Parts: sequence; C-alpha cells; structure tokens
Amino acid sequence: MTIQSVRGMPDVLPEQAGGWLFLENTAKQIFANFGLTQIRTPILEETRLFARAVGDVTDIVEKEMYTFDDRNGDSLTLRPEVTAGVVRAAIEHGLLHNQTQRLWYQGPAFRYERPQKGRYRQFHQIGVECFGFEDAAMDAELIEMTNALWRALGVRDAVTLELNTIGSPAARRAYRDALVNYLRTHEAALDAESVSRLERNPLRILDSKNPEIQALLNQAPTMDAYLTEEDRAHFSRLCALLDAAGIDYVRNHRLVRGLDYYGRTVFEWTTDALGAQGTVCGGGRYDGLVEHLGGKSTPGVGFALGVERCVLLMETLDVIPENMQAQADVYVMVQAAEAEVVARQMTSVLREQLPDVRILMHIGGGSLKSQLKKADKSGAQIGLILGEHELVDETVLIKPLRGGEQITVARNEVSKVMQTIKDSAWTM
Ligand code: HAM
Repeated sequence: MTIQSVRGMPDVLPEQAGGWLFLENTAKQIFANFGLTQIRTPILEETRLFARAVGDVTDIVEKEMYTFDDRNGDSLTLRPEVTAGVVRAAIEHGLLHNQTQRLWYQGPAFRYERPQKGRYRQFHQIGVECFGFEDAAMDAELIEMTNALWRALGVRDAVTLELNTIGSPAARRAYRDALVNYLRTHEAALDAESVSRLERNPLRILDSKNPEIQALLNQAPTMDAYLTEEDRAHFSRLCALLDAAGIDYVRNHRLVRGLDYYGRTVFEWTTDALGAQGTVCGGGRYDGLVEHLGGKSTPGVGFALGVERCVLLMETLDVIPENMQAQADVYVMVQAAEAEVVARQMTSVLREQLPDVRILMHIGGGSLKSQLKKADKSGAQIGLILGEHELVDETVLIKPLRGGEQITVARNEVSKVMQTIKDSAWTM
C-alpha cells in the first residue's frame, strides 16, 4: 500500500503553485506599500495560549485543535490561527513598549474540521496585526488594505464586505444577558446546538445557519441598543472613513466571529462564488487581548485571509495571470551537440544580466522538434536556438514561441535584445 497525505491536508502541486505565488507576491507588495514589517512565529505553541486567547468555549478550542504532549509531557498545540502567537511574541520581546507595530505574516494553521471544498485541516493564512492604535482609522486602513489586495488580484467584484460592531466588554455582557433572556423564553424552539451555546457562548447563536433559529433571531434584541457612546463613536468614524474611501459594506448585525478576543469592530469579506465556505477573510479589533495574555493594556486590530479560499476564488474567476502558471519565460535549445558549451555560457551570462527573467535551459538532447515541444509546454514566450550556423557566426536565433517573426542576433547583443523584448511584454 502506498502512503497518502493526511486527510484534509492537501498538497499544492506545481500547476496550482502559480496562483499561490501570485497571491503571496501581491500581498507582500501591498503590505510593503502600507509600511508593514513581517513577523514569523512558531507553528507550535503552548496549548494554554490558545485556550486563553481564542477562548475555552469556542469551537476551535473545544473540538478543533491538534493537541499533544511532547516527550517532556508539555501540552503543545499546532496553531489553529496566528493572532495568539503574534501577541505572545510581541509581549515576550517587548515590541509593545512605547511603540506601535504594524505586522504581517503568512503560514499554515491547523483545525480538525470536516474537510470539504474550501475547508481543510491544514490551511494557510496571510494576515496582519497592528498594535497601539485606538483610532478607528486603523480599522479602516486594514479594510482598505484588503480592498487594495482584492483589486490587485482581480476578485474585487466577487467579494462583499460585511461589517459589525460587537461593542466593548461591558456592552457585550449587557447584550448577552438580554439575548439569553429572550432566547430562554423561546427555548422550546431552539435546536441542540443553540441550547448548548445558550449556556456557554450565547452570542455564537447569532451565527446559526438554521433558518428557524434565524427567524427567531429576527425578533431578538440587537447589540445596537447596548453600545456605549464610545463604541458608537468608534463605529461611526470607521463607517465615515470607509465611505470617504469609497468602500461599500453591508452592515451585518449577526456577525460576531468565532473567536472570543474581539471587541468593537468585526468584519468579513465573503463571496458567493465558492459555495458553503464563502468567507475569504476575517478580522477585527481585540483591544483586551494583550492585557489578557499578561502584557500591558494595548489596543490591537487585525485580519487573516484564507489562502486556499482566495486561490480557489481566483481560479474560479480565471484571474491568475498566465505567466504565473508558466515555468519559464525563455527556453534555450541546442541544435548541434558542439554548441552546448557555448549555449551554457550564454545562458549563464543571460541569467546574470536578466535576474528577473525565468530562463530554462534544455537538458537531455533530442531533436529540435522535441525540444520545441518542451519549450512550448514550459509556457516560455521565447526560444533561443544555437545550431551549427549560429556557433560559427557567433549569433543566436531568437524564436517567438507564441507568434511573431524570428530574428538572428549577434550573441554579445542577446542580453540587450532580450531586455527590449521583455520590456514589450515578450512580443516581437
Ligand atoms: P478566522 O476567521 O478563524 O480568523 O480565519 C481567517 C480565515 O482563514 C477565514 O476567513 C478563512 O478564509 C480561513 N480559514 C479558516 N479556517 C479554515 C479552514 N479550516 N480551511 C480553510 N480556510 C480556513 C482568524 O483566524 C483570526 N486570527 C483573524 C484575525 C487576525 N483577527 C484579527 N487578527
């Protein structure tokens, strides 16, 4: 029997890697554009970090974590999300003393969920966490950043911003009591999941997908009445900034998110294009988390997007640039065995002079026809061919592989000519 990958932990094969690279490169560029710096934290953390940060009575901590004792008997957990580790690291290394931070990260996370399209047990997040900013301008900036990312990826028209405020802890407690009171009077109509949430984490009932529960919630008290003046001012400022930036949103009073650390702003970017797993990005404010994890009270706000879901969306909309899926831009072929050494030298010089061009040199001989087939398969735009003639004349044949006239140029001119062809998007 051959060994297979673990259920829910798919491989990313070369043919899919182009979409991943496009997303990662674009995100990196936008984060740099917004002045963020990167942080990398371990994939394993102490189990109690997630119990404290994400919350004991969340689905994630109650039933989705990969937790084990290491050889020393310490309980460790594969991170189910990255925010907790970033906050832990920021406190541990004094990154929050008299300074603000704007940090981004990317990497895997693990949740023991039922695998389906867009939902995996190992998945990947790209995220941002900002510390030391009380102002709703930072909430707005994060949303602006994601908006810029969707635009750059070509998926903006397929995603919707859902926005809500869940208020400060005191407001939330008061609302929680009101919601529980209301639902208690309708307890007979609740499903098993809602009954169990009623005791443990009642706000999560707002997330219920059950139409009967949703109907019941239509009559339920809403958070709005319980917000403090400051909560309201924070949310109005955020909405005003989004309006000014021309970013539309849908106010979703039921949006509470599945992690306990949030307060005030919560948001999600969702799409209809992927079926059930339509949330491509989620985030919000967590002003109490740093203190809750033992640091000095520091406001925080952030988001994470699901890489697999974003790539699925990009594939569905067919927006991944073709050249991201190609292996090479230029494919070097040799028509006469004697030309090989010269071709290698030429390729080596080309790679040095055009470091951002992907240059693949044919290996393994064979007829020119079979080499051209491989060149085509590589996705390359341009073929460079060295045969007997070219060897003698110190030239090289430049052959466009996607239409156009071939030309012969002096070999010592080839870098310059290739640069020109590249600048005209490989057309010739
Ligand atoms: P989250 O909503 O749990 O938030 O996850 C963020 C995103 O990760 C989701 O919107 C989804 O796209 C993706 N995701 C989550 N679970 C899976 C899964 N099983 N398979 C595939 N994709 C998945 C957080 O994790 C927060 N730490 C976000 C945050 C950062 N809030 C503030 N800062």
